[in-house]
Order: sequence, then C-alpha cells, then structure tokens
Amino acid sequence: MRKRLSYARWACIAGCLIAFAGLVHGEPAGETRGKLEVPRTWDDAALATLDVPLANPAATPVHLPADYYYKIPLRAVWKSYPVYRPGSEPAGYMERLRQAEPEVVFDPAKLASEADWIAAGELVFDGPLVYDALVKVEEVRDPAWYARTGMPVAGDGTVPFFRYVVRQKGTIELGQFSCGTCHTRVMPDGSVIKGAQGNFPVDRLDARDRRASLARAANPAEYAKGVHERSAGPYGAPWLGAEDPQHREESMSIEAIAAAGEAIPPGVQARFGTSIFDPVQVPDLIGVKDRIYLDRTGHVKHRSAGDLMRYAALNQGMAFFDRFGTFTPSELPPKVEYLRRYSDEMLYALTLYLYSLKPPPNPNPFDQAAARGKAVFDRERCEFCHQPPLYTRNKLLPVAEYRPPAGSVHPQSRDIIPFPIGTDPGLTLHTRRGTGFYKVPSLKGVWYRGPFEHSGSVATLEDWFDPRRLRDDYVPTGFRGYGVKTRAVKGHPFGLDLSPADRKALIAFLKTL
Ligand code: HEC
Ligand code: HEC
Repeated sequence: MRKRLSYARWACIAGCLIAFAGLVHGEPAGETRGKLEVPRTWDDAALATLDVPLANPAATPVHLPADYYYKIPLRAVWKSYPVYRPGSEPAGYMERLRQAEPEVVFDPAKLASEADWIAAGELVFDGPLVYDALVKVEEVRDPAWYARTGMPVAGDGTVPFFRYVVRQKGTIELGQFSCGTCHTRVMPDGSVIKGAQGNFPVDRLDARDRRASLARAANPAEYAKGVHERSAGPYGAPWLGAEDPQHREESMSIEAIAAAGEAIPPGVQARFGTSIFDPVQVPDLIGVKDRIYLDRTGHVKHRSAGDLMRYAALNQGMAFFDRFGTFTPSELPPKVEYLRRYSDEMLYALTLYLYSLKPPPNPNPFDQAAARGKAVFDRERCEFCHQPPLYTRNKLLPVAEYRPPAGSVHPQSRDIIPFPIGTDPGLTLHTRRGTGFYKVPSLKGVWYRGPFEHSGSVATLEDWFDPRRLRDDYVPTGFRGYGVKTRAVKGHPFGLDLSPADRKALIAFLKTL
C-alpha cells in the first residue's frame, strides 16, 4: 500500500513535469506506467473542447468538473463467465459457479507489455455495468425466452451479450450493459465478431420489460407517469420544443412506447441522447482508431486516445450529468458513493483494446465482379466522400434543414463538406446528439454488418442501392418507425441509377472491403 501511494505521488510530480510534452501532442499528461503513458480521462480543458457544437449551439453540453469526477469511487472489473443457452450448458456448470470465489481481474500493477494492456482492455470491454437488471438469470436459463425474444445465440451455444459474475460467493448474477453487450455481433453462421455493429435486441427487450412492469403495476397510471418523467434522463431535449423526444413520448401510452421500441431492429438502438423516433445505427468499432469524429452525428471529437476514454466514460454514465444550457438529464446524487466510474487505467486499456480490433477474415474474393464494381465505384466518384484506404474522408455533411448560426464560422468548418445529400434529418436535428451533420461512414466491413443509414432504415446493401427506396410507398427493410407502414428512405442518391449488372458489381466490390 505504502509503495503504491509513493508511486502515485511520484507519478503526479512526473505528470506535472511532462505536462508540457503532453501538450505538444495535444494530450493532457497522466500517469506513466512502463513505457505507456496513461492519459488523464477527466481533464477539464480537454472536456471543454470535446464536443462539436449542437445544432442549437446554446445547448452544447458542459461536462462534470474534474474535482467531482475523481471523487467517484471506482468500478471493479470482476472475473466473468460465459452464459449458455439451455441445452448447451456444460454439466454441473452453475454448481461450479456457485463454488467459485469472487475475483477482481483488472489489476494495473500487473500490466507491463502493450499486449497485457490490450488483454486487460478486453476484460473491461466485457465488464458489466449492472447485474440482473433488464434480463434475469432465470430468463436466460428458460428455453421459451429465446423464442419470445429472438435472442441471437452463438454457434457454441453461448449468448455473448451477457456474462455471469460472482461478486459474492454463492450468488451468480447476470452481468449486462458492458461495451460487449451492444458492440458484439452474432453472425448467421454462429460466429461472433467482437466490436462489430452489435445485434443485441435491446429495445425489444426494453419493450417487453415495460409491458411486464405495466401488467404488474398496482397503479398503472402512476407507473405511466413515472415512465414519462424518467424519459427526461435518456431522451429529454427541451430546447427542441415540440420535437423534444421526451415531450413526444409524454403523449403516448406505455403500450405505444413499448410498440415503438419493438419497431427498432437489432443493429439500431434508441441509445440515450437519441430517441425511439430517431434511433441510431450501432457503429462498427473495428477501425475506430482512424475516425476523427465519434457518433453518427459526429458530435464528439476523437483527437487522441484520451478523447476515446472520455467518450467511454461519458457514454457509460457520466453524460447523464451534462448540462445542456439550463437542462440536465439527471441531477447529481447527494453522495458520490452512489456512483461508480472506470479508472483511467481501465479506460486506457479499453481504448488500446478497441484500437487493436481487426476485422474477421473476409470470405469475399476480389474476383472479376468485384473488379468491375471497383471501376463503377471510381466512375461514380464515391471516393469524393468514401476515399480509400479508410473509405471515408472523415468529413461531416450538413442536412439541408440545418440552419447554421448567422455570422459565425463553424469550428469544424475544415472538416465540413457543405453539400447536403438529403437523408432524413431527424437524428441530427431532433435529438440531444444532433449537430445538424451526419458523418461519412467508412465502408469497410459492410460485408459483416447492417442495417445501413444513420437510423438503420435499410437491411442490406442491395436495399441501399435500390432506387425504389426513394418512393413514398417503399416499405423500409430496416428501421421503419412506430406505426409506419411505408415511407421513403430519402437521400444519398449515389449509385441509384446504375444498371442491374453495375449495381451487382458495385455491391460485390463493397463486400470485399
Ligand atoms: C446500450 C448499448 C451500448 C453500450 C452498453 C455501449 N455502447 Fe457504444 N454505442 C452504442 C450506440 C447505439 C452507439 C452509436 C451512437 C451514435 O452514433 O450516436 C455507440 C457508439 C460508440 C462509439 C462511437 C463509434 C463511432 O465510430 O462513432 C464508441 C467509440 C463506443 N460506442 C464505444 C463503447 C464502449 C467502449 C463501451 C463500453 C465502455 C460502449 N460503447 C458501450 C451502444 C452502446
Ligand atoms: C457527397 C458525399 C458522398 C458520396 C459522393 C457518396 N456517399 Fe455514401 N454516404 C455518405 C454519407 C454522409 C452517408 C451517411 C448518410 C446517412 O446516414 O444519413 C453515406 C452512407 C453510405 C453507405 C451506408 C453505410 C452505413 O454504414 O450506413 C454506403 C454503403 C455508401 N454510402 C456507399 C456509397 C457509394 C458506393 C457511393 C458511390 C456510388 C457513395 N456512397 C457516394 C456520403 C457520400
């Protein structure tokens, strides 16, 4: 203990000494461990410039102060165990877990090489935030639950979105809402891709949970009132007036809210800060190192590993205490002890893990069709926005309906292509993450992911390049919207007027990326 304290003090002094060197790299200096320097997550100066202004700049979030953040106790990363679908569970498995000792597995003192840090980062990625919350142990052990929820199951019988955790000997809990819950994809062949556009059906589970809670409620009106009030936390954006998602939800019954959630397909989510009306595509984290804006609306900058650490801390809880002008999604609890945060070392390890993610081997050969498709890609000037090798220029495109504040230059103007392409403005104008822009997504990995478009409105590439999607009588194959039978999936006219052979070739090429 004594050694640890003196080390921390030393690191603090060293941190001050090397602050200048840190600034040169645009990164606030933190602790040095071996050769790796752990950036400081909650750096007030870095946080003050982290966000791209919202479409209404006055609502751009201001984050918690560092002195508060660092008083929050640390979250532990516990040893965790796979969850199996009934029938695939090894004999005596639960009994063995009941005998297992609780074990904290993230220990920065043991990390030496970069490989150690990456391996520890994977533990953080898989470390649950909550236990027995949305889903309970009994449910994942009930065969009927799989039929009811359509839960994807891996080829080896595991359900990789969850982990069993033993925090107290003899008690097995179902850990959930780790990064891995939302950022893991089970492929149709049963393989699992960590970091890919996830397909955990979170909004469908949430809808089931709401219906069950309503059925159980002694006073349904009281329950409904609570649901409406609580939606300020995830979705409130009062500066949007009639478009404020919370305001819109308040006029809906619980059944209607549940049905709206149910209409959101896996791969798309009403992540907090978006809404059930304008949910967001779950991004593929493989390749995130090269992206300079995070989120589909590009509202968080990614200037350094430190920014990704800030992003993770914000999105796993801290953003609920942001101030958007006069609005805050959630007041700070009376005691910091009610909260938990990741350590800077956990977040750094997590970031190194994300940076290390590689796509799975691509089964699609670069054959004649793909070569023809590449020629179509070049001829159609797709590289104007989707430039190889990243297949994105990392630019932001405004929606046509966005009105920039008069008389000022946008701080990101260098990265803006002032060329609206007509996709639906809902996510970027009618939510708390709305900047007025959509970023140009990378086309790498489209072979293993979908649905596409910012709200995942189309299921496949074939649908994205189908000109019928522009018609009002089109039935979107991905996210459609609650109560919507048909609607146009507007915009992004590129590649819509190709001959059937060119279209097929273009898609064959894209699937090789
Ligand atoms: C409840 C589901 C959920 C959990 C849990 C979750 N994410 Fe996400 N994550 C999302 C969704 C949905 C988005 C898209 C948000 C947007 O575009 O506005 C996203 C976006 C991101 C992005 C931006 C990537 C890009 O290219 O724009 C990063 C990085 C990220 N998440 C990392 C993490 C990490 C690290 C964790 C764990 C600490 C985590 N996420 C936990 C659902 C989740
Ligand atoms: C002027 C810039 C621009 C050009 C040119 C362009 N795109 Fe895009 N592309 C975008 C933007 C922006 C999006 C995201 C739109 C949204 O979600 O609202 C996008 C989305 C996509 C997507 C969906 C990806 C996903 O994950 O949702 C694919 C596939 C795609 N483009 C392929 C192409 C191809 C192929 C071409 C050429 C035929 C092309 N694009 C030309 C800007 C462009």
